[in-house]
Amino acid sequence: MTDTGTLDRQLVMEMVRVTEAAAVAAADWRGRGKEKDADHAAVEAMRKAFNKLHIDGTVVIGEGERDEAPMLFIGEKVGLGGQKVDIALDPLEGTGLTARWAPNSLAVLAIAEEGHLLNAPDVYMDKIAIGGGYPKGLVDLDRSPADNVKALADAKGVEPGDITVCVLDRLRHETLIKDLRAVGARVQLIPDGDIAGVIETTDPMTGVDMYMGSGGAPEGVLAAAALNCVGGQFQGRLLFRNEDEKSRAHRWGITDLDRKYELHDLARGDTIFSATGVTDGNMLKGVHKSAQRYRTETVVMRASTRTVRFIRTDHIKKDIIRS
Ligand code: FBP
Repeated sequence: MTDTGTLDRQLVMEMVRVTEAAAVAAADWRGRGKEKDADHAAVEAMRKAFNKLHIDGTVVIGEGERDEAPMLFIGEKVGLGGQKVDIALDPLEGTGLTARWAPNSLAVLAIAEEGHLLNAPDVYMDKIAIGGGYPKGLVDLDRSPADNVKALADAKGVEPGDITVCVLDRLRHETLIKDLRAVGARVQLIPDGDIAGVIETTDPMTGVDMYMGSGGAPEGVLAAAALNCVGGQFQGRLLFRNEDEKSRAHRWGITDLDRKYELHDLARGDTIFSATGVTDGNMLKGVHKSAQRYRTETVVMRASTRTVRFIRTDHIKKDIIRS
């Protein structure tokens, strides 16, 4: 088969190793009520794993700006040198979920060619997403929830009542949830972790047909990178709560604050997306441990070939290898 990808395909497996390392490190903190410690462990492990790779990587979506994040900050260079890639990462998506040992926390990253991932400020983003295989423009952020549900139901040849929409369980989504239920759709409310919510639309086995609502903009870019790998659809619009957030956007070079971002404004070209479960979720199992092994589950996707791989790995604990 001809490989049309611009990213070295060996990087697919390398990205799996990176999210696996972060997930295993975060798993030690499940249920301990310590979000920061869990996040720190994941960040440290992910950075260490990146720095073993032959890439010339630049973090474009990371743990924060240089002055607020000591590791994996925006602009940080990682890797030993090699192919130039931009990186969007969230070593622990769902810090609260991990602290409470609640479902759906992930270690996540996406890579693309330089300049192909939007450097989004850490503000909210209004999002709508569906998986692959639908006519372009089927759903739209500017249409009503009812119209989007009906359009998707028509395209699937089902009734609106057969459509399930995943939404973050937040007070700000009260009207959205009411409107979705009024048209007959089922609403799956999640406590946190909207990257998981969006990527579930790529897998028919999850039962989630569409994702709607607002969450973090950096998470929006990561989710868009996943949908870019499978030909899914995503639109996002940044939401600003105050002048400080607006000036943050200006510093990022964003001038049109009302812009509706299409998927390819957020992530385009050859892209690799990898997510490893930390806690058990709808799509991925979390890290499972025995006395001798860790078992991880990862989904890794690649845009140039639209391949989606589910990788279950058994990692022998280091002290056992030595003995
Ligand atoms: P963290 O991992 O940083 O805790 O983010 C979890 C998350 O639920 C994201 O998935 C989502 O985009 C965002 O927080 C939603 O923000 P908020 O909790 O303010 O509604």
